[in-house]
Amino acid sequence: MTDLTPVLSATWDAEQSWKLGTYEEHGGYGALKKALGMPPADIIQAVKDSGLRGRGGAGFPTGMKWGFLPPDDGKPRYLVVNADESEPGTCKDIPTMLSAPHVLVEGVAITSFAIGCNHAFIYLRGEVVHVYRRLMQAVREAYEAGHLGKDIHGSGYDLDVTVHAGAGAYICGEETALLDSLEGRRGQPRLKPPFPAVEGLYARPTVVNNVESIASVPSIVDKGVDWFTSMGTERSKGMGLFSLSGHVNKPGQYEAPLGISLRELIDMAGGMRGGKELKFWTPGGSSTPLFTAEHLDTPLDYESVGAAGSMLGTRALQIFDETTCVVRAVTRWTEFYKHESCGKCTPCREGTFWLAQILERLEDGHGTDADIQQLLDTCDSILGRSFCALGDGATSCITSSVKLFREEYEAHVQQGGCPFDHSAAALFD
Ligand code: NAI
Ligand code: SF4
Repeated sequence: MTDLTPVLSATWDAEQSWKLGTYEEHGGYGALKKALGMPPADIIQAVKDSGLRGRGGAGFPTGMKWGFLPPDDGKPRYLVVNADESEPGTCKDIPTMLSAPHVLVEGVAITSFAIGCNHAFIYLRGEVVHVYRRLMQAVREAYEAGHLGKDIHGSGYDLDVTVHAGAGAYICGEETALLDSLEGRRGQPRLKPPFPAVEGLYARPTVVNNVESIASVPSIVDKGVDWFTSMGTERSKGMGLFSLSGHVNKPGQYEAPLGISLRELIDMAGGMRGGKELKFWTPGGSSTPLFTAEHLDTPLDYESVGAAGSMLGTRALQIFDETTCVVRAVTRWTEFYKHESCGKCTPCREGTFWLAQILERLEDGHGTDADIQQLLDTCDSILGRSFCALGDGATSCITSSVKLFREEYEAHVQQGGCPFDHSAAALFD
C-alpha cells in the first residue's frame, strides 16, 4: 500500500493556510533555523544524497545543479525560482504558492544560504495577480519575522527576496528566456552552454529551480535524507504533486510518491467521469507523447515513463475519455504552441503555424489524404531542429496521436469533418 501522507500539501486545508502563523504552528521555519547552523556544503550534500530531481519537468538532479556553481569569488550569485508555470495541464506550483507560500519562502532561504546567495528572485507567471499578492504578503511576513533580511536569526547571514511578475509568455518558463525577461529584455532563449549555473542572471552564476523543487528542500533538511529516499523508486526519489484534470470525477492536485500509477491516481480522483472508458492521457503535460489505457499501470517515475516512450515532465495528467476527439484536443494544444512560439527560430515559428493550419483544416472538414503525412513531415522539420524545447514539445502530441489514432485522422478526411459530437450536452454529460 502506497503511503500517501502529504508533505508539500500537508497544510493546504488548514484555516488561513497561507499565513505565517499557520505555517509556524505546523513547524514552519524550523528547517531554516536548523540549516543556518549547518555548514552550507552539508546542505548541498544532503540534497544531492536525497536524489531530489528538478520538479519543473526535466528531472535534472537538484543537488548536482547546485554543485555546478563555480567556487565563491565574493561577487554576487543568484537563486532564481522558476514560478512561471504554464505547461498546459500543469497546476501544482500555483496551488502551492496560494495555499502554502511560506514553504517556498523557507526553501528559498535555505537554498540561498546553501549556495552563498544574498539576493534571490521568484519569477512568477504574469497572469496570476492573486498569486503575486499572496507571495508578496508571505515575503513581507517573513521579513517582519526575521526569516529574511539582515542577520537572519542572528546567523550573520543576509538575504533579500524579490518577487517579479512576468508579462504572460509561456517561453519565459524556459530558464534562459526567464533570465532575459528578469533583466528587462524580451524573453527569448539563450544559447546553452554556458548554463545559468556558470553564467546566468546578470552574467553571474545562478541556480534556476522550479517552485516544487525548492519547496521540497525544507522537509529534506528537517526530516533527513533517509526519510526522503524511503519514498519513490530506485532512481526517482521522494514525493511529488500530480495535477489531474479532464474526465475524472474529482480533478485536482494529488500528492504521492513518484512511481504511483495513473490507475491509483484515478481511484483517488473518484474514478472516470460518468464511468466512461479512458481513451488517452498526457503523463507530463501536452509537451509529452500521449499514453492510453495500456499505460494505466506504468509507474509514474522518470525511468518507467521514459521506457514506455513518453516523459514524466511536469506530472500534468490530462485525462480524456472515449467521447473525446483526439484531433480536436491536439488542435487546441497546437494552437497554444503556435501562439506561444517566441519566433526566434524558423522551424518552430513557421512549423507551429503550419501545424495549426493543417489541423484546423482537418477539423473543419477541408482536410485531404496528404494532410496526415504533411503533419508528420512538418513535425520532422521541427523536432531536433529548434532552438529550445518548445519546438520539440509542440510535435509530441501530434506524432504520438497519429501513431495511436491514425484512423481517427483518416475519418476526418473521409467524413469531411469531425466525427465526434461537440455539443455542450455531449461535452458535459
Ligand atoms: P534541460 O534538460 O535542458 O535542463 C534542465 C536543467 O538542468 C536546467 O536548469 C539546465 O540549466 C540544467 N543543466 C542541464 N545540463 C547541465 C549542465 N551540463 N551543466 C549545468 N546545468 C545543466 O531542460 P529544460 O529545457 O530546462 O526544460 C525542459 C523541460 O521543461 C521539459 O521536459 C518540460 O517537461 C518542462 N516544461 C515545464 C513547464 C512548466 O510549466 N513547468 C513548461 C514547459 C516545459
Ligand atoms: Fe522560440 Fe520556438 Fe525557437 Fe524556442 S523553439 S526559440 S520558442 S521559436
